[in-house]
Amino acid sequence: MTSDNRAPIGIFDSGIGGLTVVKAVMKQLPHEDIIYFGDTARVPYGIKSVETIRDYAIQITNFLLEKKVKAILIACNSVSAAANEQIRECSSPVPVLDVVEAGTVASLKEKNINNRIGIIGTLATVGSGTYEKSIHKYAPEKNIYSKACPLLVPLAEEGWVDNEVADLVLQKYLADFKSKDMDVLILGCTHYPLFKSNIEDFFTGTDTKVIDSAISIAEMTSKLLKDKKLLNSQNESGKFECFVSDKPQRFQLLAERFLGKKLHRLDIVSLK
Ligand code: DGL
Repeated sequence: MTSDNRAPIGIFDSGIGGLTVVKAVMKQLPHEDIIYFGDTARVPYGIKSVETIRDYAIQITNFLLEKKVKAILIACNSVSAAANEQIRECSSPVPVLDVVEAGTVASLKEKNINNRIGIIGTLATVGSGTYEKSIHKYAPEKNIYSKACPLLVPLAEEGWVDNEVADLVLQKYLADFKSKDMDVLILGCTHYPLFKSNIEDFFTGTDTKVIDSAISIAEMTSKLLKDKKLLNSQNESGKFECFVSDKPQRFQLLAERFLGKKLHRLDIVSLK
């Protein structure tokens, strides 16, 4: 195992969604090198079986371990739901953080009047009941309303996050939530923060706060690295290297637009 503080942080998702986590980590930890894997050949994960998602996730984890990362961030709720334990087992002693835990922590920090939490996510995440388990471990009194929104990931991968089609799809998915008086709505898929402002607009005039786990997982990463004395103090500014399993040009376009910076490296890797 590497415990070199100059080693990169490994972050992964099925596609571009995990870049919402990358952006928050870059802001929180600007001196850290980051290696990102986006499984663009096999996205979306959220409509696949637990076994398939687990298989893909272990392949990516092994790839990141070969790159000698000092920590792994699971920037995919569907993977957190399907393969959290397996990833931790095969990565040990490299520490692992995941977005479901981060989203849970973030939502429980918010003010709580009605004890109602809404969750939107992929079919895999919502079907697994992972958020219910995670939230009820700390706060069994919470009422949880969840809904799968499978059309949002293809829209985000297409870059259609801010047009009338996205708005219409969001309105359909979110309609049931409006009357629920929720304290928070957790964006339980890392692609969904790309629609955050549209979703916030939808809840304008209600007391529902929209939560994404990216800032929370970035803060958890900072604490973890500090506690383990793994913060990179040598680097002037962190490098960002990306690996995808297909269509690098499209990924590069969306990634550079979203992050507002050039990628230092982008390679195709096919995993088995
Ligand atoms: N962004 C991922 C998540 O958080 C995966 C979405 C997908 O590939 O369906 O669940």
